[in-house]
Amino acid sequence: MVKICCIGAGYVGGPTMAVIALKCPHIEVAVVDISVPRINAWNSDQLPIYEPGLDEVVKQCRGKNLFFSTEVDKHVREADIVFVSVNTTESAARMIADVSVSDKIVVEKSTVPVKTAEAIEKILTHNSKGIKFQILSNPEFLAEGTAIKDLFNPDRVLIGGRETPEGFKAVQTLKEVYAHWVPEDQIITTNLWSAELSKLAANAFFAQRISSVNAMSALCEATGADVTQVGSHLLMLCRLCVKPLAQMSRKWAYAVGTDSRLGSKFLNSSVEFGGSCFQKDILNLVYICECNGLPENRFVSSMFNTVSNKKIAVLGFAFKKDTGDTRETPAIDVCKGLLGDRARLSIYDPQVTEDQIQRDLSMNKFEWEHPLHLQPMSPTTVKQVSVSWDAYEATKDAHGICILTEWDEFKNLDYKRIFDNMQKPAFVFDGRNIMDFEKLREIGFIVYSIGEPLDAWLKDMPAVA
Ligand SMILES: NC(=O)c1ccc[n+]([C@@H]2O[C@H](COP(=O)([O-])OP(=O)(O)OC[C@H]3O[C@@H](n4cnc5c(N)ncnc54)[C@H](O)[C@@H]3O)[C@@H](O)[C@H]2O)c1
Repeated sequence: MVKICCIGAGYVGGPTMAVIALKCPHIEVAVVDISVPRINAWNSDQLPIYEPGLDEVVKQCRGKNLFFSTEVDKHVREADIVFVSVNTTESAARMIADVSVSDKIVVEKSTVPVKTAEAIEKILTHNSKGIKFQILSNPEFLAEGTAIKDLFNPDRVLIGGRETPEGFKAVQTLKEVYAHWVPEDQIITTNLWSAELSKLAANAFFAQRISSVNAMSALCEATGADVTQVGSHLLMLCRLCVKPLAQMSRKWAYAVGTDSRLGSKFLNSSVEFGGSCFQKDILNLVYICECNGLPENRFVSSMFNTVSNKKIAVLGFAFKKDTGDTRETPAIDVCKGLLGDRARLSIYDPQVTEDQIQRDLSMNKFEWEHPLHLQPMSPTTVKQVSVSWDAYEATKDAHGICILTEWDEFKNLDYKRIFDNMQKPAFVFDGRNIMDFEKLREIGFIVYSIGEPLDAWLKDMPAVA
């Protein structure tokens, strides 16, 4: 029986290995982690992460061909294929070298600086004691909140390896694992560096696209344009950026472009970026922005200018819906801003615990990426923050509501009931643009929704106009 071991039972390692175990019943999969609470949770009914569909997959295979364990050395030693899905790839590589007694394929799954695979390779070969390691890069493209769906139907699986006979063989071995459920033409094989760079490039493209839409939405608010209508034209604009991509190797561009979130059409266009029009239009846009004097953080600076000692209900804390993950969530900055202005916060998120919220609000940014066991155990509780398990409770007697995560259930709350129980005037800040703002205004709320024209009430405020 082929044995797989995955180091790191996190958002990537856990779901990915559960799906491999489900789709490949003849492979034994062990997921190992140094965090005892995390492994205990994986072995319990309350999994450590929330992902739609994950519970069912884990229940079907756990104890059969899927195991969660803290016996890191043992499982690494026994494995034929070792996945590395941690943020501390170097120490994981040293550990693999220390404990191995047979040849292994080591698959780097983390998103890491390019050429980390080469660094891992160096660590392993310099400490190999005659054991042969083949290093593969197999970056993960799943998105939290849709991890199981993404793993069942990936746009593509990318496997990079050394272009040697042994390297090709290792790539083929991993390809055969995925081929149990992924069509072969969607499994792209490249060299090591291309695979690593593709993942970083895809993320850079996402970031660019998100920033552009965000900047546009700020302009839409001020000018009265509709961000969703402008958004569809943005797709056309994106095609103008194609020239630099055309200069990349075709395979590499394909690896990036097959991501449905980016759109493969994006790379097919032959329109060139250049000439005077594009630059002129960008300058025009800058001019319009300057004329409209867009304030940086309209919500904190104007809408709740007097938040001191007022109760603000925060709906949503996770960085997006259908996950309990709070790393880099914008909610942290917004809440810290409000706390800095001496507001009292009442927070509700369907999947984030009070402990996590308190930890996030009392921690410095640089501590976020630390593994849980290295984070402060009992952070000082932020006193002006209360966490509630019910949206109606959280919003009771509040002066304003901030919607910071796009959970579907927030769209279906009884806002009339909420309005009746709030202080007046009652504000809603829809930071995710998910609400029917006209309906809210009919109820009586003063609404500020990202990317939508400003409420007449807000327009009259000197700090906003
Ligand atoms: N979260 C995502 O959506 C996503 C998507 C694609 C790629 N990635 C990348 O995948 C990697 C893992 O991300 P994640 O979100 O799963 O991280 P995570 O923090 O959820 O999980 C990492 C786990 O590894 C464990 N760990 C750390 N060092 C270890 C060691 N030496 N031995 C054993 N266990 C160890 C930690 O205890 C933790 O449980 C990162 O490089 C990330 O950038 C993440």
